[in-house]
Amino acid sequence: MSYLFVNANRSAGTINKNIYGQFSEHLGRCIYGGLYVGEDSPIPNKNGLRTDVVDALKAIRVPVLRWPGGCFADTYHWQDGIGPKEQRKTIVNTNWGGVTEDNSFGTHEFMELCGQLGCEAYFSGNVGSGTVQEFSDWVEYCNMGGVSPMADLRRKNGREQPWNVKFWGIGNEAWGCGGSMRPEYYADLCRQYATYLRTYAPDQKMVKIASGANSDDYNWTKTVMERAGGWVDAVSLHYYTLPHDDWQHKGSALDFTRAEYYTTLRKALRMDELVENHSRILRQYQGSRTVGLIVDEWGTWYDVEPGTNPGFLYQQNTMRDALVAAVSLNIFNNHCDTVCMANIAQMVNVLQAMILTEGERMVLTPTYHVFTLYKDHQNARQLESYVGAALVGEGEEQVPDLHVSASQGADGAILITAANLDDAASRTVHVVLEGAKAGAVTARVLSGAANAANDFDHPGRVAPRALAVTPTAEGFDAVLPACAVAAFRVEP
Ligand code: AHR
Repeated sequence: MSYLFVNANRSAGTINKNIYGQFSEHLGRCIYGGLYVGEDSPIPNKNGLRTDVVDALKAIRVPVLRWPGGCFADTYHWQDGIGPKEQRKTIVNTNWGGVTEDNSFGTHEFMELCGQLGCEAYFSGNVGSGTVQEFSDWVEYCNMGGVSPMADLRRKNGREQPWNVKFWGIGNEAWGCGGSMRPEYYADLCRQYATYLRTYAPDQKMVKIASGANSDDYNWTKTVMERAGGWVDAVSLHYYTLPHDDWQHKGSALDFTRAEYYTTLRKALRMDELVENHSRILRQYQGSRTVGLIVDEWGTWYDVEPGTNPGFLYQQNTMRDALVAAVSLNIFNNHCDTVCMANIAQMVNVLQAMILTEGERMVLTPTYHVFTLYKDHQNARQLESYVGAALVGEGEEQVPDLHVSASQGADGAILITAANLDDAASRTVHVVLEGAKAGAVTARVLSGAANAANDFDHPGRVAPRALAVTPTAEGFDAVLPACAVAAFRVEP
């Protein structure tokens, strides 16, 4: 029997709904084919956006969507993607497969997607190969309500009202594909760009996000905060989970050993230490303001599926990915005092996707189902929770068997999300609630073999199902199957 404690008297704060954010890049089949098929497509769509995919994404309540990259962002010139489609410039996507980009999906189409999803937009601006003027014009195009050259251009292109886009990323991976910069140089550029990102109405909100560190590059965060911390509202962090550190042989998404399963989970759990350490640096240099941490790229990264374009980063998704998602989201929830947004990479058909598509067919991945189980954490009050975990693993690859986070919604209901990382044995969990009375408990669980996946012929192989719970004097008991992610809703 394992103990799981939830203390409703102690909280780190509110879980920002944007922790459940997503990322969509002009990469492979994420935008074209995955989200956008064009109005003339035989695939059912509304204004060119796939109805099946949008409906599925609405069900997980996506709060915010980052676009257009990634590496693509620092080659993207937004004016190529506005105006009549037949007049839009055709470019080469030099980062991802060298394919032709016809710019048929641009600012207006992205804002239509955000509108259909009911989410906020997060634009990643071009610092690597763009100009300050170009970036500041994009903000004016999106956010200026009155008369101005950019607002007039927007109106000419069919949009009367400003969109009031709040989140603006000042470049992406400036240390790499975004310009190969040193942190000192980027910090100066960041100040310059931030100066010209203006608001256009007294009540307009703007969140300026500095391009952040790769993994444990603490010097990057320190230097950017020291020199440019006063010009931004948040700093980003990118961390990907690869079974092997060799980028040529990262490991297969479907065909992996037990040791690779545990290595992957051990590496995913490293997010805790990264968030902790980067947050400490932000606190150290933020002065009297609050500078948030935005983990705007995270997730698993494997070798592409055999036979697919290596530049398209298409990979399958298993229960192993579900566990990576579960522990990562638990970590973000429990660090809600600093983590104000996170964006899993990526939404459709790329890396750790929610959804895979093939022509008109669509399949929901195990990762999608984790986002379903966790969605009520959005904007809820985080509650302190911990488990009496034992170590489990293979050889030196040891991880805690149980991992948890909890929150209380405005209606008083408590959501406890717990993962059993043991791939072979179930765990009986004795849940103890402090400071709250346990009403009726309903639970759902996602479980299966570590390599269990959904595919186009078996779309329902991995799906949440009901889990039995037994009320006790202190809370309730439940048996978590091996390799499982569970969500318990405790009524007030
Ligand atoms: O998500 C894929 C790529 O990973 C992004 O374009 C880049 O920012 C990161 O290196």
